[in-house]
Amino acid sequence: MGIGAACARRLAELGAKVAILDRDAAHAEATAAEIIEEGDSAQRYVCNVDDVASVEYAIRCVVEELGRVDVLVNNAGVFPSMAALELSEAMWDRVLDVNLKGAFFCAQLAARRMVQQGTGGSIVNIASVDAMHPTGGLAHYDASKGGLVMLTRSLARELAPHRIRVNAVAPGAIETPGASGILGDPAVRAEFAAKIPLRRMGVPDDIARAVAYLATDASDYVTGSTLVVDGGYLVG
Ligand SMILES: NC(=O)c1ccc[n+]([C@@H]2O[C@H](COP(=O)([O-])OP(=O)(O)OC[C@H]3O[C@@H](n4cnc5c(N)ncnc54)[C@H](O)[C@@H]3O)[C@@H](O)[C@H]2O)c1
Repeated sequence: MGIGAACARRLAELGAKVAILDRDAAHAEATAAEIIEEGDSAQRYVCNVDDVASVEYAIRCVVEELGRVDVLVNNAGVFPSMAALELSEAMWDRVLDVNLKGAFFCAQLAARRMVQQGTGGSIVNIASVDAMHPTGGLAHYDASKGGLVMLTRSLARELAPHRIRVNAVAPGAIETPGASGILGDPAVRAEFAAKIPLRRMGVPDDIARAVAYLATDASDYVTGSTLVVDGGYLVG
């Protein structure tokens, strides 16, 4: 749902055969059905990205059914707020496992397939402005996204000889079901909006259009970069 669904819709519209991997079958099914209704192509797979065996199985199914992997968008992420002084080990592990370990093993397994295919590829990691500027109450999340930005750079360097490009998009405040808890509070919302020079919250398609640029040949000389899409929040 949210940003991931918008990316799936945008890439399908550009002609990709989209495979939606989500731990929640209903979310994946709803997005796939919407894309098919538009006349584009989508398949859905239940997959928990923090479980490497689950990712391995899902990618094997994608390759069997769709034939190849050219683009990976690492979008799955969780962002439960908790003060650093209260943070439990379990919460730390959950956030790092999904946001950072999950992204690494999805990238590794997709990249192995891309290397076998021998025609390059593009990996796009969904980071956050929190990788550069902490919001507060999200030390675990900020660490995971900071790690994801550096992981993007490391993989870009190692995978370049295989013509696999690796980039990140760092969204600002985007209206999604997952963010509705934080942004649903009118006071927090007003505070956020006041800090955004373009004076509006982002919508999922703002991120999807950046992902489409990084996924396709329009960006074929771009690797290791992080594209900030935040309405100017970081410079506000
Ligand atoms: N919404 C924002 O303001 C915002 C800002 C910066 C970065 N981001 C990042 O963008 C990404 C998407 O955020 P969103 O707001 O669309 O979230 P969301 O909660 O609306 O949707 C997240 C989707 O990921 C799936 N998911 C969660 N954990 C998973 C797992 N372990 N395995 C497989 N699927 C899993 C969920 O089922 C859901 O479909 C996240 O990585 C988030 O950190 C969001």
